[in-house]
Amino acid sequence: MKDKKKLTTNQGAPVGDNQNSRTAGQHGPTLLEDYHLIEKLAHFDRERIPERVVHARGAGAHGVFVVENSMKKYTKAHFLQEKGRDTPVFVRFSTVIHPKGSPETVRDPRGFATKFYTEEGNYDIVGNHLPVFFIRDALKFPDMVHSLKPAPHTNIQAPDRYWDFMSLTPESTHMLVWLFSNLGTPANYRQMEGFGVHAFKWINDQGEVVYVKYHWKPKQGIKTLTAEEAKEIQGKDFQHATRDLYEHIEKGDYPEWDLFVQMMPPSDFEKLDFDPLDPTKVWPEDLYPLLKVGKMTLNRNPQNFFAEVEQSAFSPSALVPGIEPSEDKLLQGRLFSYPDTQRHRLGPNYLNIPVNCPYARVQNYQRDGFMQTRQNPSPINYEPNRYEDTPKETPQYVESEAPLAGSATRRKIDRTNDFKQAGERYRSFSKEMQDHLVKNLVNDLKEVHSQTQLLAICNFYRADSQLGTRLAEGLGVDIRSYLSAIPQK
Ligand code: HEM
Repeated sequence: MKDKKKLTTNQGAPVGDNQNSRTAGQHGPTLLEDYHLIEKLAHFDRERIPERVVHARGAGAHGVFVVENSMKKYTKAHFLQEKGRDTPVFVRFSTVIHPKGSPETVRDPRGFATKFYTEEGNYDIVGNHLPVFFIRDALKFPDMVHSLKPAPHTNIQAPDRYWDFMSLTPESTHMLVWLFSNLGTPANYRQMEGFGVHAFKWINDQGEVVYVKYHWKPKQGIKTLTAEEAKEIQGKDFQHATRDLYEHIEKGDYPEWDLFVQMMPPSDFEKLDFDPLDPTKVWPEDLYPLLKVGKMTLNRNPQNFFAEVEQSAFSPSALVPGIEPSEDKLLQGRLFSYPDTQRHRLGPNYLNIPVNCPYARVQNYQRDGFMQTRQNPSPINYEPNRYEDTPKETPQYVESEAPLAGSATRRKIDRTNDFKQAGERYRSFSKEMQDHLVKNLVNDLKEVHSQTQLLAICNFYRADSQLGTRLAEGLGVDIRSYLSAIPQK
């Protein structure tokens, strides 16, 4: 007990004086031999690590996922086989564009990343709170993010820059209708949905493949902010969503989400007027109804934000047997990008950090590197080898086989259908939601170059002529002379 209170250096040596550095005489100068001073300053100097290049601001919590309907028929994923099976999870919610200390009231997608610590390895669903995305090809992601981030010369975010990009990227229209509605400013992290956005493949023990999309539905309901409410909260508290999550868990009011999947057999792919692997599209729920999988409860706050939340590392490529990526070109780029940035942000041994470390046993021949803490006691660090008791590949876990055809090419998908679902979304909103959407768009587009305004109006007009006309009116732009050039439908 006495020892517990003893201040030490990181070497464990007791510290005699934590107030005065060791100096030559009372006035100094300071002596280089003062190990405690130098260790303390040097460690402080290195307290910061690179923040996430996107999704830098976030909050996280631990919890549990319980299966309510066995998915055995559709996937061999071990953690989804039996009703009642529980799997520990860690979830991180985030905003996307602004840095670590930025307000949580901004109009932005919210990240919703879930790590399932399954017995067959970690499985991550790295989703957002809106069901679609701005672009459909990973090649465009860095440009898109650059346009949304602060300008390199002013360090200020500028609508003229991202509207320039978005208006020339018509597939973003659907996402922009979601984002500029009040759903783009969720009231907190507890009262929002989550979506995997991409399709993934589920494979059962017969080798049959079905494509799925994930939906998280909050038991707390959905709550959003108007632009005015967001402004007011931001004036008082720029970390209200982190606070809300922490305080609810702390007082035992645990947030819960139901997990649903939509399923589509590959035989349906050609039947639709859009490409089902295009992440700018939703799958109509009347054709592909939601099937309940289970429930997630977040019931434990992190003890240390840096250790558990800042150092957490999610990736859409963290998959388990029975779940594989779809061919979606946006997803394919993500499979590379996350572990790549995490090796940079946290180091090559980032999976040894407790929050990222699988509960499943890790056994392979990878070794060493910066900050290696895992000790492989076996001297056999290669494979194949003649030793019986060393880890070996298990053929039953080979991925599914997928037929491929065609030539290597750089081509857009055929059924881009950029505007139809955007228009349907607008028309599905209540009158009040439509009014807020128009107001939010006009307020933002006011700031942009007239050429970009016109392009943006045209895109929204092609989604819904009323929406386009209302925006033109709100911005004082006469679009009559352009209307004949806008394809209807
Ligand atoms: C974070 C890249 C699209 C959701 C990140 C990070 C990178 C990245 C580099 C930082 C990861 C880290 O430092 O740990 C990309 C690329 C994309 C893409 C290249 C497209 C090609 C998306 C999409 C979604 C999404 C479509 C949602 C469906 C997230 C989330 C995080 C994140 C939730 C934060 C994870 C956390 O809480 O640590 N993304 N992203 N991203 N991304 Fe993406």
